Amino acid sequence: MGLIRIELENLRANPPSKTAVWPALERFLADMDAGRSGFFHLPARSSWERELAAIKPALAHRIPELDTFLHLGIGGSSLGAETIVRALGASRAPAFHFFNNIDPDWILHTLERVSPHKALLYVVTKSGGTMETLAQFAFLRQWLESRLGKERARNHVVFCTDPSKGDLRALALEWKIPTFEIPPSLGGRFSALSAVGLFPALVAGIDGARLLKGASDYRKRFLEQVEKSEIPDALSLASMLVDHARKNGRAMTVLMPYSQRLKTLSAWFTQLWAESLGKNGHGLTPIAATGATDQHSILQLLRDGPQDKTVGFVEVKGFDQTFDIQWHDPTLPAFDLLNGVTMNQLMDAELGATRQVLTNGARPHFTIVLPRLSAHTLGQTLYFLELLTALTGYLLEIDPFGQPGVEEGKILTKQRIVAAKRKLN
Ligand code: PA5
Repeated sequence: MGLIRIELENLRANPPSKTAVWPALERFLADMDAGRSGFFHLPARSSWERELAAIKPALAHRIPELDTFLHLGIGGSSLGAETIVRALGASRAPAFHFFNNIDPDWILHTLERVSPHKALLYVVTKSGGTMETLAQFAFLRQWLESRLGKERARNHVVFCTDPSKGDLRALALEWKIPTFEIPPSLGGRFSALSAVGLFPALVAGIDGARLLKGASDYRKRFLEQVEKSEIPDALSLASMLVDHARKNGRAMTVLMPYSQRLKTLSAWFTQLWAESLGKNGHGLTPIAATGATDQHSILQLLRDGPQDKTVGFVEVKGFDQTFDIQWHDPTLPAFDLLNGVTMNQLMDAELGATRQVLTNGARPHFTIVLPRLSAHTLGQTLYFLELLTALTGYLLEIDPFGQPGVEEGKILTKQRIVAAKRKLN
């Protein structure tokens, strides 16, 4: 069936004890049953099939020549969707642009290459009040309306927001915009496997049901381990990371997938880990990297820099395609060495070498092994990393589901806008 595997051997300096970790697991499970966060039960209770049936028939009529998907959102309302699309998007899918920043040069430059007639705007904000996303939409609404007219412009917009609150929900009702729901208990950074990520996945030709099945299979495995009174892998890893941080000062976590298609997974994980765990003076600092590229940068720091990191690899056992290198010439030994080698073998050697460097230097590391990169294995990986994050939060005794610092930033941004407007008047 293609299940992912978590290799923890190289972290084993601090094996977790059941008495130490079980209370945190019990608190986590009790909170999940009480509906504290929607992510845990999402694969089992997803309303995706129903939501999809409601929107799918209308889509093709609205924009028959769809060639560009503009995803408007920030933080958790953007990165999960981008991770899925970049990892698995079909080569003939529309072009995807993730407007997760408000840099006007970048937005205008991107739009130069976009035809409004063939573009779909997907506006994602759970609160319906995030300044960056609303500003983008306000501008893009004008952009669409000035080219297509008011009525037709609305056919090019889909929303995703809270079921009842916020400006976007109000607008959805007034303008009759097709709108997906983000369940109130589902935090932005835990929402990749809701309509936030599944609608872009659909447009990119990715099987959303398989993503959910992957998450559901991983959840099943986690619950089976709990049932058998075994420490689940996500909890073992969480406990080892927390121990390495507390006892050995290794409070930084590097995630380094050996796959270009999983580059955004590191960015998504960075946000998930930082925003969830940075509370009350606690937290583990994430660092995003990609193999093999960053063997030529961060590897030096990992080997010889301060001993304050643990490293997580993501290994894809078999790429969908490969090619071999053909260059037999003993007078050019470097080329000759590569003769007959496949890119798969080379990637394998690169990852093996990096792991060996870390092992030689007694640097702790772990690996998430994917038999292949597919909707099923990506669904498992996203769910595993969400579980890992939540459980790490419970071990640290902080609330992984809040984000008071981010909220303060949002409030102060609004206050500054009010002050700036006052000055102008
Ligand atoms: O994970 C989170 O809660 C945040 O990163 C949010 O996703 C981000 O701040 C965007 O919020 P919203 O979806 O309300 O626009």
